[in-house]
This record gives sequence, structure tokens and C-alpha cells, in this order.
Amino acid sequence: MPDPAERLILLLVGAVGAGKGTQAELLSARLDIPHLASGDLFRRNLREGTPLGEQARGYMENGDLVPDDLTIAMFMDRLAEPDAARGAILDGFPRTVRQAEALDRTLADHGERIRRVIYIDVPTEQLIQRVAGRFVCPTCATTYHAAGDPPLRPGICDKEGTPLTQRNDDRPEVVRARLDKQVPPMLAVLRHYEEAGIADRIDGTQPIELVTEAILRSANATPERA
Ligand code: AP5
Ligand code: MG
Repeated sequence: MPDPAERLILLLVGAVGAGKGTQAELLSARLDIPHLASGDLFRRNLREGTPLGEQARGYMENGDLVPDDLTIAMFMDRLAEPDAARGAILDGFPRTVRQAEALDRTLADHGERIRRVIYIDVPTEQLIQRVAGRFVCPTCATTYHAAGDPPLRPGICDKEGTPLTQRNDDRPEVVRARLDKQVPPMLAVLRHYEEAGIADRIDGTQPIELVTEAILRSANATPERA
């Protein structure tokens, strides 16, 4: 059994459209720890026109990974913020073995480690369909699906009342590039944590709520709020 005082760090691994963001939001509410998503951090920097956003833009628009040094620095700063003191759901970071080793080292320096790594497994054809129907709130980053998980009012975020948008990198040609370029390093990260004995693979084609329950079982994490 994990020590209840230990910082609860869960890592969600999965390809584009596997449901990392969807699950991280639900887990964040259930476990009362923040959802930290590298893609959302980059998109916020892009919107705000920061130097980091400008450096990341070209990579993201080509479906490439942003270089490790930029990504590691940005994510470690975020993980050190006070709201993550009790734990965090990591979505999209680490995505290369170098990033994973940097994270492992930083945690080990504080006597910590990742509690569990969960690979959300979805076949490629379903991934492409999911991303084609995805709409996102530009204000709070909540994700909807036109068919599978629609908002209450079409095209409007349930939480913010903001018109929903589609992501720039969800164009079909960029999605294919993201799959081709990003799946091999992602599988290497998964192997890294499987070798450490802390990873589980779960079936990501199940309904959203069943995927959440499977992740909670894997994490052996008791929800603070049911
Ligand atoms: P990022 O934003 O992380 O994109 P991604 O990994 O490609 O993942 P997505 O956000 O597209 O998918 P998701 O798994 O979150 O799926 P979602 O929950 O939305 O990264 C963007 C870019 O930033 C990268 O391409 C890269 O350039 C850069 N970057 C980010 N991190 C980096 C790093 N560490 N290093 C370097 N570069 C980095 O679900 C998808 C759809 O499916 C939704 O519409 C949802 O409603 C629906 N859905 C979800 N679950 C289910 C279900 N069980 N059944 C049916 N429908 C479902
Ligand atoms: Mg996401």
C-alpha cells in the first residue's frame, strides 16, 4: 500500500486522442489534485505570445515534439508550484526517455517517485476519428466530442459559456505526423516505466467513466470526493 502522506503523482501516457486530457480532468476532480498538461502549457504560451510559445509554435504545427530542454524547464517549473504540493496528474510529460529521466531525477532529489504510469491504449483508426470530432474550450481547455461527449448547448463550453474551437494541430495531416513522430518515443517512455515495474496498460476504448475507474484501480488511489 502506498504511504498516504506521499505526494500522489500519476502519469497518463497515450497517443494523440487517447483520452489523456479527458481522464486527467475527471481524475483531478475526483482526487483533488491538479491536471498538469504540457500541451495546454504550450498552447497558453502560444495564445499569450510569450517567447516560449514562439519557440514551440513551429514544432507543434509540424506535429514534432518540442525540444527536451525547453519542455523539461517549463514542466518542472509548473510541477514546483504550490497547488501540486499534494500531487498531480501528468498529461503529456514526460514524452521522451530523456524527459522521463529528468523527471525521475528531480523527484528522487526530493525522496519522491511517480506512483503509477497508466498507458491508455486505443487503436489508431479510433484515434483519428476522435480527434476529428474534438472541440475544446479556449478558456478552460475542457474537451468535448461532437458525437461521444457533446456539450449541453452545441458549440458552447458547459463551464465557461465560451464558444468551442478546434485545435490548429488537429488538421488530419498534422494528426498523422503527430502519430508517426510521437508514438515511437512515447512507447519508449512506457517501456522505461514498465522496466521500473510501475506501469499498467488499460483499454482506452471503453466508455469514459469505465476508463476512469480502471485508472483509479491501477493507481490504488482512494478518491477524496466521490
Ligand atoms: P498534447 O496537447 O499533449 O497533444 P497529444 O498528446 O497529441 O494528445 P491530445 O491532447 O491530442 O489527446 P488526449 O489524449 O488528451 O485526448 P482527449 O482527452 O482530448 O500536445 C500537443 C503538442 O505539444 C504535441 O504535438 C507536441 O508538439 C507538444 N508537446 C506536448 N508535450 C510535449 C512534451 N512532453 N515534449 C515535447 N513536445 C510536447 O480526447 C480526444 C477526443 O476523444 C475528445 O474529443 C474526447 O471527448 C474523446 N474521448 C476521450 N475519451 C473517450 C472515450 N473513452 N470514448 C470515446 N471518446 C473519447
Ligand atoms: Mg490532451
